[in-house]
Amino acid sequence: MSVRDIPLSFATRRHFLKGSAAVAGALAAPLIIPQSVHAASDDVIKVGLIGCGGRGSGAAAQALSADKNVHLVAVGDAFEDRAKSAASSLREQFAGRVKVTPETTFVGFDAYQKVIHADVDVVILTSPPHFRPAHLKAAVEAGKHIFCEKPMAVDAPGVRSVMASVEEAKKKKLNLVAGFCWRYDYAHRATFQLIHSGILGPITSHYSTYNTGGLWNHGRKAEWSDMEWQCRNWLYFTWLSGDHIVEQAVHSIDKVAWAHKDEMPVRAIAHGGRQVRTGPAYGNIFDHFSVVYEYADNTRAFLYCRQQDGCASGVVDYITGTKGVCNLHSGGLYQIKAGDMTWSYNGPKNDMYQTEHDELFAAIRAGKVINDGVRMTTSTLMAILGRMAAYTGRMITWEEALNSKEDLTPPSYQWGTLPTPPVAMPGKTKFA
Ligand SMILES: NC(=O)c1ccc[n+]([C@@H]2O[C@H](COP(=O)([O-])OP(=O)(O)OC[C@H]3O[C@@H](n4cnc5c(N)ncnc54)[C@H](O)[C@@H]3O)[C@@H](O)[C@H]2O)c1
Repeated sequence: MSVRDIPLSFATRRHFLKGSAAVAGALAAPLIIPQSVHAASDDVIKVGLIGCGGRGSGAAAQALSADKNVHLVAVGDAFEDRAKSAASSLREQFAGRVKVTPETTFVGFDAYQKVIHADVDVVILTSPPHFRPAHLKAAVEAGKHIFCEKPMAVDAPGVRSVMASVEEAKKKKLNLVAGFCWRYDYAHRATFQLIHSGILGPITSHYSTYNTGGLWNHGRKAEWSDMEWQCRNWLYFTWLSGDHIVEQAVHSIDKVAWAHKDEMPVRAIAHGGRQVRTGPAYGNIFDHFSVVYEYADNTRAFLYCRQQDGCASGVVDYITGTKGVCNLHSGGLYQIKAGDMTWSYNGPKNDMYQTEHDELFAAIRAGKVINDGVRMTTSTLMAILGRMAAYTGRMITWEEALNSKEDLTPPSYQWGTLPTPPVAMPGKTKFA
């Protein structure tokens, strides 16, 4: 199926939601918390890691911790130093279960193909987001189970490719777990289960922030080509990261989507720019955004994100409905007030990153299928929609974003010259 054949209704999820009963009486209902996982078989599950940075190393460690018969057998990265250092640090932590050899250590832009075809059962996709659609497509084509970090793409052609891969993964009954980690956090699950039960009444507004200081920057070495410099500092180039609204604040956008049962907004209007990270070291991304997402019922969600040092930080949500309000704070507050009732989460706490892998490997052992594909794709497009609205200064509809022709792929994947694309200028940057 070509990516053009994906029905647009994929994007709204309404047809999925119509059939699902509301979670009645969820206050009294037991929380859906998974059992701890024990390997059901002695068969070894072989894992390949693609993108050997901080998250990739963490995800591989979580895969190895999820099941005592998981082996890491292959690694791939654009850069040799990253591939080798991840393998050696994992070897120290998981003696005997890291079977990576020089022959299964792959380097370069095609390393992903080699990892996928190195006799693995599961692949971990943790490269910069630009590469995710191609890596996901190849993994699904090869019939691998997948753990795939967020975001899933940086532009609409990438999103459409991911949609096609998701449908293909469903047909092949492949597990596809996404790194939207709050969906695997027990406290968040309990809170959103209550919201979905109707305790707040219909949602009338959602205020959400992902405000932080600046992130890492590796600078530039004289011997690095433009392409190497950009790939090593991928956060700062929209073609690689999608900008920080897509790369980081997509976690908060995913919570907005979750609260709305993954129904997508119909349009967005946004502000954004770069005030403090203006030098060439910061590529072409913005350092702040604010987005108003408008829903079909005329309600709105407000998303604020910034990466600016010395400013108030916070990852919070205030979700207001006709009957109550929910306050979430990443510091550990999960509270719902509705009428005279105040509810706070006091159930078990988990490591959501570990739970992602516990549930993935338990499903593989049990012959079950988890497929996070639809929501991981729509939340990613919701973030891209916000960026498009901020970059252009225009009101952008969901359908426009989904059908956008803007393709951020560079002319070629060569270690050579690649000028930094211009910084977007609202009112001047055209929607494509
Ligand atoms: N869920 C979360 O909480 C969370 C946290 C951190 C990062 N992430 C996501 O994980 C992904 C990786 O982030 P990170 O923090 O590990 O970054 P990182 O820079 O530490 O790691 C990325 C790795 O990918 C490699 N790479 C670059 N181009 C590649 C290519 N074409 N093929 C293979 N490898 C390539 C880099 O050399 C690097 O080693 C991103 O999508 C990021 O958004 C998610």
